[in-house]
Order: sequence, then C-alpha cells, then structure tokens
Amino acid sequence: MTSVLQSVLDPAGPQAAHISWLWWLMFWVTTAVFVIVFALVLAAMWRGGRARPSADEAADRPLAAAVSFGVALTVVILFGLLGATMWTHRAVLALGAESAVTVNVTGHQFWWEFEYDAAVPSQRVTTANELHIPVGRPVVLKVTSRDVIHSFWVPNLHGKRDLVPGITSAIWLQADRPAVYRGQCAEFCGRQHAHMAFEVVAEPDARFERWLDAQRQLARAPQSAAETHGRDLFLTTQCVLCHTVRGTPAAGKVGPDLTHVGTRGKIASATLQTRPDDVAKWIRDPQHVKPGSQMPPTPLSDADVQALSDYLVNLK
Ligand code: CUA
Repeated sequence: MTSVLQSVLDPAGPQAAHISWLWWLMFWVTTAVFVIVFALVLAAMWRGGRARPSADEAADRPLAAAVSFGVALTVVILFGLLGATMWTHRAVLALGAESAVTVNVTGHQFWWEFEYDAAVPSQRVTTANELHIPVGRPVVLKVTSRDVIHSFWVPNLHGKRDLVPGITSAIWLQADRPAVYRGQCAEFCGRQHAHMAFEVVAEPDARFERWLDAQRQLARAPQSAAETHGRDLFLTTQCVLCHTVRGTPAAGKVGPDLTHVGTRGKIASATLQTRPDDVAKWIRDPQHVKPGSQMPPTPLSDADVQALSDYLVNLK
C-alpha cells in the first residue's frame, strides 16, 4: 500500500479537510493583510519624505477616517477568523457514529497500544504502533495514557488530541482513501518523544476484516528448530516479564503485545524495520537505538539473539 507524505495540507479524511480549509483561509487572509499593510507602510514612507506637517485640521480628516476604517476592518477580520475556527471545530467533532470501529488507544513511554474493542472479550485484539482502519468508515478512538501526557496526531487525518493519564476522551477519524498514513506523538513526553511514531493503515473493508480475524488468532507455533529455540529463549528470559504472546505463557503487559509482531512493518514505534537484523539490534541493545526507553538490553549470545529474532519476525 502506498505511503503518503505526512502533511496537514494533504487531507485524506473529512476532519483533516476541514482543518486544511481553515489553514488555507487563514493563510490567504493574513497574506492579504500583510501585503496591504506593507504597501501602506511604503506609501507612508514615500509621502512622509515630502509632506510638511500643517496646522490645518481639515487636512487630517482623511487620515482619521482611514485609521477608523483600518480598526473596523481588523475587528471584522479577527471576528471572521474566530467564527471560521468555531465552525471548523464543530464540523470536526460532528461525524456519524454508524458502523463505527472502536479502538482504545493508550500512550506509553514511548509506544502506542491499540486495542480493538469487541462485545465479546475474547474477540478483543491488542496490537502496537500500527493502527489498521477500514476506509470510508468512521473510527472511534478512545485515548488515554499510562504514564505522562502524549498527543495523538495523524496530520493527514485529523488534528492533535492529548492523551492524559487517568482521563479517557474520544475522537473520530475517517480515511477516505486507502494508504499508509504516518502519525506521531505531538506532546513532549520524555527522551524518546521524537521516536514515538506510528502508522495508520487504511484499507478496504474486506481486507480490514481479514486482518482483524488474523489478529484474533493465537500466535503461530514455531515451524523450525531455530524458531522453537527462539520461543524457548523468549519464555525463559526477561522478555516474558513484559510482553504478551497469546498462545504461550507470556502475558506481560509492560511492553507491546507481540502475538503478531511479524505482521507489523516496523518495531520500536516505527524506528526499526521488522526484519531479523533490526530485531536483533533492538533485542541486543535497545538503549543504543532509543536511549531512555523502558526496554533493557538482553545479554544473549549472537546465535541466541538470531534465533529469538527469527522466532519474532515469523509471528505472523
Ligand atoms: Cu509521547 Cu511525545
């Protein structure tokens, strides 16, 4: 699927379209104000060099009228922009709730947890850093944070929304065309704030449902001796304390759910690719890749790190 440039000026959903409309309105109005003011300043400088001050009060009358007009125009423009901002705010909040998909979004230092809600608890799916949504359908995101304030921002789809610990708030999102949209944390949250990115994969309905079904499955069993060794390492080292792999005894809740980590394009909040050498780099020394992240280094031999990486990238 195509990746689009992360930009507020390339809206791909109704809310982003409203926001970009407001952006352009403000851009053109303020540009016009700038050009007019600058032209008047130049005209005043040109005249000031020649005109002599006069004691004649009648000569000042056009000037007084011009100043009054300028003040009135400024007030009209500012109230006009205020009105446009309020209208955009209303439009952004108003999106139909029919057939909405609900996702609980939790911010962590420094990654994103996405839980797909379902009436039946066993049908709920938890993933990380890669949000799949169906094209053309509204998606409800219920956002909160586990530690500090983060901010959820996918410029092509919506404005920013803070994730505040202890408070859950909801936003709507809708993508009108299938693509991969990049998002990122937009509130400084610690050392790895800049490496707290994620991807939104907007795909046709059928494909989305297939993806969701696949995510509901338990983890794939190891298919080779190396993978089996990798799984055993996963279950007997510190990995198991923080991560979940459904279908195994691993049920840690500190780090991302890794049940289907192999299906995700990137790891470590879109910092590294999900391929054996990158995964090995991450396991060996996360503090080198993302200093200050919560994951400690895993002291294993090269062969063991390789087996562990092979197991993880094959969790599809
Ligand atoms: Cu999370 Cu900045």
